[in-house]
Amino acid sequence: MAYPPGFLDEIRARVSLEHLVGRRVKLVKRGREYVGLSPFQNEKSPSFTVVPEKGFYHCFSSGEHGDHFTWLMKTEGLSFPEAVERLAGEAGMEVPRGSREAEEEAAQLKTLHEVMDRAVQWFQAQLGAGVGKVARDYLARRGLSADTIKRFRLGFAPGARTGLKEALLARGITEEQLVATGLVIKPEEGGASFDRFRDRVMFPITDARGRTIAFGGRILGDGKPKYLNSPDTVLFHKGKILFGLFEARGAIRESGTALIAEGYMDVIGLAQAGFTQAVAPLGTALTEDQVQLLWRLAPEPVVCLDGDAAGQRAALAVADRVLPLLKAGQSLRFAHLPTGEDPDSLIKAQGASAMKEVLDRAVPLSDVLWQREYSQQMIDSPEREAGLKGRLEALARRVADPEVREAYQRSFRARFDAEFRRQAPPSDRGSYRNDGNFRRSEGRDGRTKFVPPLAGATSALRNSALGRGLPGSARERSIIGLVLLRPELLARVEETFADMHLDDANLDRLRRAIVEVSATAADLLDSGTLHAHLRQHGIGDLAERVAQAARPLLGLRADKSLDEVEMAWRGVLSVQERPLVLGEARAAAHEYAEDSSDEKRDALVELRLEEKRKSSGQGESS
Ligand code: UTP
Ligand code: MN
Repeated sequence: MAYPPGFLDEIRARVSLEHLVGRRVKLVKRGREYVGLSPFQNEKSPSFTVVPEKGFYHCFSSGEHGDHFTWLMKTEGLSFPEAVERLAGEAGMEVPRGSREAEEEAAQLKTLHEVMDRAVQWFQAQLGAGVGKVARDYLARRGLSADTIKRFRLGFAPGARTGLKEALLARGITEEQLVATGLVIKPEEGGASFDRFRDRVMFPITDARGRTIAFGGRILGDGKPKYLNSPDTVLFHKGKILFGLFEARGAIRESGTALIAEGYMDVIGLAQAGFTQAVAPLGTALTEDQVQLLWRLAPEPVVCLDGDAAGQRAALAVADRVLPLLKAGQSLRFAHLPTGEDPDSLIKAQGASAMKEVLDRAVPLSDVLWQREYSQQMIDSPEREAGLKGRLEALARRVADPEVREAYQRSFRARFDAEFRRQAPPSDRGSYRNDGNFRRSEGRDGRTKFVPPLAGATSALRNSALGRGLPGSARERSIIGLVLLRPELLARVEETFADMHLDDANLDRLRRAIVEVSATAADLLDSGTLHAHLRQHGIGDLAERVAQAARPLLGLRADKSLDEVEMAWRGVLSVQERPLVLGEARAAAHEYAEDSSDEKRDALVELRLEEKRKSSGQGESS
């Protein structure tokens, strides 16, 4: 009840209970109490008492018991808010505005929810009826099972102008209610009202309690708008609702994770494929409210937007919006879909396992932001390097939570350092080929610096956290991993790849297996076929994990051209293997960024010292 604290007590204090009750019951004072014949019972000897001091009345024969407000409710049939209003009037108090209206609104909402529920049922009935055949066929073509259709209570709005309106009017629902729920449109310039949704497959949108509060309606086939949605109404506030949340709730809690897709069909396709923890905003960018809603259920929802430029832009926008809100352990991860696919189409084309792979490769929010800043421009001058540093600092500062902010600062600095505090390659190694793939520039300190052609390549390469537990160096893993991710690459680098030798025996075995498979393959290999063959060789697991670890080399965009991938690969090939201690320090820095315990810090300091000793030993201190 939305009364201010103390308001009801104040009324109780000001209105004398014995006078209130005394209007109906003849009371006799007996000590501190008043006694009379029960108004609730036909009786001859009094069993009814009023105890003003304690603010209640009690009837010993009927068990009735209550205070000022229940008295009026019981004896005059008032509602609670009405009783409050009446007594406030007697007490000379004003009921704060809003309370009474709130009560009425709640009652109105309840009936509007019922209206929506009726509409759902009617749409469902149409889908099942003769008129719904086109829609049933459409849903079948899209691969939806009867179970799925039932689970999401899908329906059909036939083409008739006032089908729903007439059906619901006949059930005693008023035109006003139909307009209030957005189901029916009343033209402002006058004229008869008509159904908003016609000739569309209907997707009920529910609130967190499973009550339908709006609809999305999809056109059958092509046409505009593809989806028509309910307007914002008293029931429905677009930015505060996630499609599928009610249905997904249990699965989110159980799995500890949520998936954020872009559209209705994605949520439904995901659920049908077993990913029942999926939700989607309603055709708008993800709002802060929506993210907060999910965070109450799962610490790190995974954003999986469409694998096109717009989807990736949306992902970055989400990352930006969420950054200030991060808390310890509370963030988002980002999954990259292949270009041109959304979760629904990917599942349909390649099955649930392909979707699972995409999800397994989801990267943390910090990666997405780092990647964006890093790839904004080629970092080939001290000014640009400093610019990048400034942008990263500014980003980290936007995190409101002090601990997470610090962790972001450390993480960005560690990556930045890993990227730019690199030593010049010894000149006797011919591996840096400045043949246009790599750019050469003077570093701040006058040392020659080599900038890889693909922004982010080396940073990702050095993100040793990704390769944890895998054999070989990050460089060698990446050489293989890129080929696994994009086997078309082999057509361009096959000779080099076939002739090279990798120091790590397992990785080299994997390399030889790939060469063998590609040599015997009739067609151009795709990633799936290659992996299938490698599984037959018994090294499928290793291949999977190596491929996964190399994934960040391709950056945020899922649609890197083969040219870009080749450049990345050649970039990796030419990266200097460095003394082990450097890699270790970097790994330690990452660990410290993630878990800033004293122990981790000591390990980092120790390694940094060793690194210094080594590099000064080599005359390279700066
Ligand atoms: P998409 O255009 O990606 O559609 O819009 P989709 O979800 O893949 O749908 P199908 O597979 O073509 O059926 C994503 C979401 O944007 C909103 C809807 O919520 C949709 O699910 N949207 C899209 C609209 O509200 N109106 C539109 O006209 C289009
Ligand atoms: Mn789709």
